[in-house]
Amino acid sequence: MTLASPGRAVFVNQLVKRYGRTVAVGGASLEVETGEIFGIIGPNGSGKTTTVECLQGLRTRDSGEVRVLGLDPQAQRNALRHRIGSQLQESALPERLRVWEALDLFAAMSPHSRNWRELLEEWDLTEKRDTAFADLSGGQRQRLFVALALVNEPEIVFLDEMATGLDPAARRGAWELVRQVRRRGTTIVLVTHFMDEAEELCDRIAVFRAGTVVALGTPPELVARYAGRSLVRFTDNTEDLDWLRDCPGAEEVAREGPRVEVRGTGPLLAHVGAALVAHGIAPADLRVERATLEDAFMAMTGEGAP
Ligand SMILES: Nc1ncnc2c1ncn2[C@@H]1O[C@H](COP(=O)(O)OP(=O)(O)O)[C@@H](O)[C@H]1O
Ligand SMILES: [Mg+2]
Repeated sequence: MTLASPGRAVFVNQLVKRYGRTVAVGGASLEVETGEIFGIIGPNGSGKTTTVECLQGLRTRDSGEVRVLGLDPQAQRNALRHRIGSQLQESALPERLRVWEALDLFAAMSPHSRNWRELLEEWDLTEKRDTAFADLSGGQRQRLFVALALVNEPEIVFLDEMATGLDPAARRGAWELVRQVRRRGTTIVLVTHFMDEAEELCDRIAVFRAGTVVALGTPPELVARYAGRSLVRFTDNTEDLDWLRDCPGAEEVAREGPRVEVRGTGPLLAHVGAALVAHGIAPADLRVERATLEDAFMAMTGEGAP
């Protein structure tokens, strides 16, 4: 038997989970380092939620090895329960429970808990403290679920589609809070279908497709590996720019009037910039259009963001 690598927050080897005939997860493997913000992305139905549910001991796996904080979430669920934070699903709270009551209840259930008034403040729920769960907006519910996941000061927290229902400002606010949570020492596993969120927040990302991990790496690694080329643009009237083709990584130089485009790979902007300066040209509008994680995602999964 392989033992979980020491220091790893999560270790998953060949996880399989079926629902009847549906293979939700068909041999997924990944490891999450302590202190990481680890992203899980993939099309709808690719097994992301099932995987994190198996990690939290909420589902029984069919086969494979899983360790969270060195424990088996199935066999050692009780030992693990107070050390992890779980984002609740929509139906999980009684309609009439008030925001403060939910937080107070969750705090009372954990052996060590944070001051939930601070969490109310941080997740912008202070004004809603006396509101019943049923009367919260989608975004407010979402923020409450995240706050509840953090009440027990977890060593690792699982956030599944945390930002769904949040407006753009609240989404950015949530990103900053997630970074703060990490600064307090909590490892974060973040399932998201927002590519900008994954690119902005995650140290490393696993890409799921049809129940397996098809790619794993830092956002820049995934972009470089799957989204290929970048595009450098500037305007200049110099007639002969053929020497730009000699820049390392340059594959194609095109121009239309003063508008010049160089396509290629690697640190293209730096090489084109250096070549231009060496030829006495310093265009004020020199810029690069970098491929994004979304481009890489499309290349890896054969579709747009789900
Ligand atoms: N409780 C369930 N019963 C039966 N099938 C399920 C259940 N939950 C998920 N599935 C199926 O398992 C597959 C993976 O689902 P899920 O893990 O929710 O994917 P994701 O979170 O990536 O959208 C899908 O085909 C889904 O329909
Ligand atoms: Mg899901």
